[in-house]
Amino acid sequence: VLAAMQAHLDLLAAAAQRRAEDVVQVVGAALVDGDRVLVAQRGGGSLAGLWEFPGGKVEPGESELAALVRECREELAVEIAPQAFLGEVPLPGVVAGGEPGASTLRVWWGRIESGDPVDHEHTELRWVRADELEALDWIPADRPLLPAVRALLARL
Ligand code: C5P
Repeated sequence: VLAAMQAHLDLLAAAAQRRAEDVVQVVGAALVDGDRVLVAQRGGGSLAGLWEFPGGKVEPGESELAALVRECREELAVEIAPQAFLGEVPLPGVVAGGEPGASTLRVWWGRIESGDPVDHEHTELRWVRADELEALDWIPADRPLLPAVRALLARL
């Protein structure tokens, strides 16, 4: 009986592990300076030419905020300080590379602590005001977050 229970526990542990690997978290940064937010145009891949909040995948074992800071360092060559959580949207699993329905894009408000953004991985970087956000050709995942970003810009 004990051996059977142990085998069952092993199966449960393996299933939990698989689920954890299927959940891909993506973080994005709405970096604000005065009345403007930084937006970035994707260079390559299927989303080329579309605008996004800079960011990327959280690596296994990495915290969400560590990923946010790392991605901004890698993509923009800036050091940022996360300020507050803005909102999240579900991502198609095929986009994030995990299981459908299990992945989300979570966007944080941040401030640049040091450095001027450099387009290491993007075609173009642009500082835009709240009224310029809607007209950009956004990645579908990012667009639902625009009201939260506009509300943030309005109260700063
Ligand atoms: O930037 P990176 O390619 O690492 O991002 C992983 C995936 O997360 C992208 O393929 C994209 O579909 C999604 N993403 C997003 N919105 C962002 C950043 C990434 O939907 N602001």
